[in-house]
Amino acid sequence: MKMPLDDIRVLDMTHVWMGPWCTMMLAEMGAEVIRVEPPWGAIDRLSEGMTFGGASFTFHHLNLNKKGLTLNLKHPEGKRLFKELLKKSDVLVQNMSPGSMEKLGLGYDELKKINPKIIYAAMSGFGQYGPYTRRNSYAPIAEAMSGHTRLTGDGVDPNGPPIEMAMAYGDLGPGTLAAMAIIAALRYRDHTGIGQMIDVAQFDCMTALNPALTGFNLSGMLLHEMRKKSRGGSNVGGMFKTKDGGYVFMGAWSPSAVENLKKLLGSDEPTKEMASQYIGDHNRDEIAKILIDADIAAAPVYQINETVVDPHLKARDMWVTVEHPTAGKITVPNFPVKMSETPGRITSAAPLLSQNTREILTNLLGVKEEELTKLMEEQAIGDA
Ligand SMILES: CC(C)(COP(=O)(O)OP(=O)(O)OC[C@H]1O[C@@H](n2cnc3c(N)ncnc32)[C@H](O)[C@@H]1OP(=O)(O)O)[C@@H](O)C(=O)NCCC(=O)NCCS
Repeated sequence: MKMPLDDIRVLDMTHVWMGPWCTMMLAEMGAEVIRVEPPWGAIDRLSEGMTFGGASFTFHHLNLNKKGLTLNLKHPEGKRLFKELLKKSDVLVQNMSPGSMEKLGLGYDELKKINPKIIYAAMSGFGQYGPYTRRNSYAPIAEAMSGHTRLTGDGVDPNGPPIEMAMAYGDLGPGTLAAMAIIAALRYRDHTGIGQMIDVAQFDCMTALNPALTGFNLSGMLLHEMRKKSRGGSNVGGMFKTKDGGYVFMGAWSPSAVENLKKLLGSDEPTKEMASQYIGDHNRDEIAKILIDADIAAAPVYQINETVVDPHLKARDMWVTVEHPTAGKITVPNFPVKMSETPGRITSAAPLLSQNTREILTNLLGVKEEELTKLMEEQAIGDA
């Protein structure tokens, strides 16, 4: 079966969450993604402490369907091979700190001379220009400055501390937007033959992903102030503790859900306190069912060991088991979006360090056996 990005080759110079997520999205839609690491391994292989078959859980999660190539880009031969590969590639993605690729002589201005059709995506905390461009960044940095961290805390208590978002949306959001921009740039290139530079800043993206900012520009009020002021009527929603110590989330926000809540609580003017009392008299799964059966949007708040066994995810084919050469069988989420003609697909586990170096250099660049040996001896490439 044809995949949407079957004919696209991506040189993946990324490391750490945002970049690997972006290129994995492309790989799950069929692109050939070659993860280029230094022979000593990229920082995200080991960055999370515990390892499984030599790599962190995030590395396993974020590098499915990719090939592994090692090139020492500080060695002239490593750089030469990289430039040869670039001529045969459609996209380059990197998320190093701004200036790092330029220091290697691999900035966009250099590389477009070699391949003018190249789509070059540079992801960073603050973008390739602007007063903060030189700052290093991780997801919580962009989340903090775009307002998400304070807003998450405000959701619990506006007078309490800010709360860090749990799973790096400051990476996964910008990484997804980068993948979207790359696909748009491919479409443009296919029509015009012209490549382009894509500058993705976590701070920009997380700002765009925050509607509360437009709310502030319109009202001059913080989100919790706006909500306090405008939450009239009988809308009731939020997190509720249950009898067994669990939690449910309920959002009776639409007119029909409010009517349903009125019937359930036996009141024409339901309040959060009434809902708390009613919900608190039931166990979590029981009340979740009662609310859902009453056509009110509600969910049990799962711990992750419950998410992995949820029957709905199973019915929607959301788990795939891949075989990793050293970690064994690993169950990972499937490509999450269902496409009727060209479904995404997961075919392989994250690569071992240098797993495909020989195959890539031999098949794509015609490097001969003696040269491979010499390159390894000189440490221009890793084990091949
Ligand atoms: C994540 C981050 C903070 C890590 O910082 P860092 O470890 O100092 O990494 P940098 O990107 O600055 O530099 C990478 C280094 O590896 C080197 N490198 C990368 N690939 C290489 C290769 N294949 N061969 C040889 N060297 C390589 C680079 O040349 C650079 O070397 P230098 O420090 O001598 O210039 C930084 O990369 C960053 O801010 N990235 C943008 C934001 C981001 O994506 N954050 C992560 C998401 S949470």
